[in-house]
Amino acid sequence: MRRVAVIGRGRLATAVARRLAIRGAEAVVLSRASGFDVTGPVSFAGHGALDAVVEATDVFTNDARRATAFFSASTKHLSAAATDAGIPMHLLVSIVNCQHPALAGNGYYAGKAAQERIAARAAAPVTILRSTLWFEFARQNLDRLGVGPLRLVPRMRVRPVALDAVAEVAAQRCLGERSFDRLDLCGPEVTTLWEMTRELPPPKGILVPVPAGRALRDGTLLPGPDAEVVGPRYSQWLRGGRR
Ligand SMILES: NC(=O)c1ccc[n+]([C@@H]2O[C@H](COP(=O)([O-])OP(=O)(O)OC[C@H]3O[C@@H](n4cnc5c(N)ncnc54)[C@H](OP(=O)(O)O)[C@@H]3O)[C@@H](O)[C@H]2O)c1
Repeated sequence: MRRVAVIGRGRLATAVARRLAIRGAEAVVLSRASGFDVTGPVSFAGHGALDAVVEATDVFTNDARRATAFFSASTKHLSAAATDAGIPMHLLVSIVNCQHPALAGNGYYAGKAAQERIAARAAAPVTILRSTLWFEFARQNLDRLGVGPLRLVPRMRVRPVALDAVAEVAAQRCLGERSFDRLDLCGPEVTTLWEMTRELPPPKGILVPVPAGRALRDGTLLPGPDAEVVGPRYSQWLRGGRR
């Protein structure tokens, strides 16, 4: 049976593990919960033979120093551990256009851009699968960004994608069903986070659009023409009961 280490146990890790299981592969899920902390050196010793590693770690911060330290350490330590263990594939999931100079003032994107630079310099090749914002982010933002009864929705122009569709491509790549070193993925249509939020069942509280950086408003996050379009439209996805 093919075995893939999935690092993290959050949204992406869970979706990738599900997609691997559908293909009859085993996901070995590792994170701090199982004593596997990527902020320091890690090892795959004791986890058996592995065909691939999917890096699905995350930190919730907009502080550039913290984000950069976390994401850089994650990729550096996982790359070293994968190389030591002779694992042929290390797949990092990143964000389309995170390296754009216009986004350098956003601490989180600066951290993801630093992570991609570490990946590009790694001793063994790191495959980078970049995705646009996930559909799930609209709900996630409501849960995170509030002041009293107000639910704050940054003005962002985006071309979102279903997380499951991204996870499917990640699983295919890990199992050798697809071949790429770099790939950008996006969903079928351009919209705004505000529109996405308004299509959700009404939340408790009052929705308030708030300014985001100019680059987020103006579409710097939108993918280029080479991006592959995957997954359903947002409205179809909502009708399927996913939110
Ligand atoms: N949201 C989007 O729209 C989007 C789009 C494109 C790409 N991405 C990228 O997708 C990745 C995963 O995002 P997500 O939303 O799935 O994250 P998430 O749900 O917040 O999960 C993050 C996971 O990271 C693990 N983790 C945190 N610190 C760790 C550490 N020091 N060592 C080991 N594991 C650690 C956590 O598990 P423990 O607590 O057990 O450690 C957690 O399960 C991120 O890199 C993000 O940039 C997201």
